[in-house]
Amino acid sequence: MKKVLFAISTRDGQTRKILQRLAEQWGSEVTCDWYDLHEQQTVDLTDYDQVLVAASIRYGKFHPSLYSFIKQNKAALEKNNATFICVNLTARKPGKDLPENSAYIRKFLKCSPWQPQEIAIFAGALLYPRYRWFDKVMIRFIMKITGGETDTSKEVEYTDWEKVRIFGEKVREKLEL
Ligand SMILES: Cc1cc2nc3c(=O)[nH]c(=O)nc-3n(C[C@H](O)[C@H](O)[C@H](O)COP(=O)(O)O)c2cc1C
Repeated sequence: MKKVLFAISTRDGQTRKILQRLAEQWGSEVTCDWYDLHEQQTVDLTDYDQVLVAASIRYGKFHPSLYSFIKQNKAALEKNNATFICVNLTARKPGKDLPENSAYIRKFLKCSPWQPQEIAIFAGALLYPRYRWFDKVMIRFIMKITGGETDTSKEVEYTDWEKVRIFGEKVREKLEL
């Protein structure tokens, strides 16, 4: 039985949903443990065959706990050949879901002492009814200038689930399943 750790930073749950889909895809072949980066507890990464570090973007940034976790676990992340996953709404645009075209990944690689060999980007979800007033206004403004959904009564999931499935197959291969 292989063991995977999901080290996760999420605000509205879409990053968790993506990882849950991977866990379902792998089924009983893989035991998946969850570690919430925001709780900042310690965890032993050497227990795992593969570590997936997944974090979403808010106002252009990752949650600061992502960088604290990386600083504390740099050597173990390198040894594990861990994978980094970024979830954001810019990635709904063609090509913006490629690490080489992502400003968020460029910035991440500048700030992070860990330079992951594997990086994946998935488009997230736009959940207007769940946002606070300020966030709703800001996100609507961003959507207006970038040609996205502006109807604040709507929830739109931009995640490409086929891309998630293909990524899940790649990880299965890495786990030698
Ligand atoms: C307040 C707020 C700010 C956001 N800022 C950005 C942003 O700067 N760039 C971007 O591409 N997506 C942005 N998003 C979209 C989120 O990354 C997207 O909704 C993602 O699915 C969130 O994942 P999570 O639910 O796991 O936190 C923002 C969303 C919210 C609610």
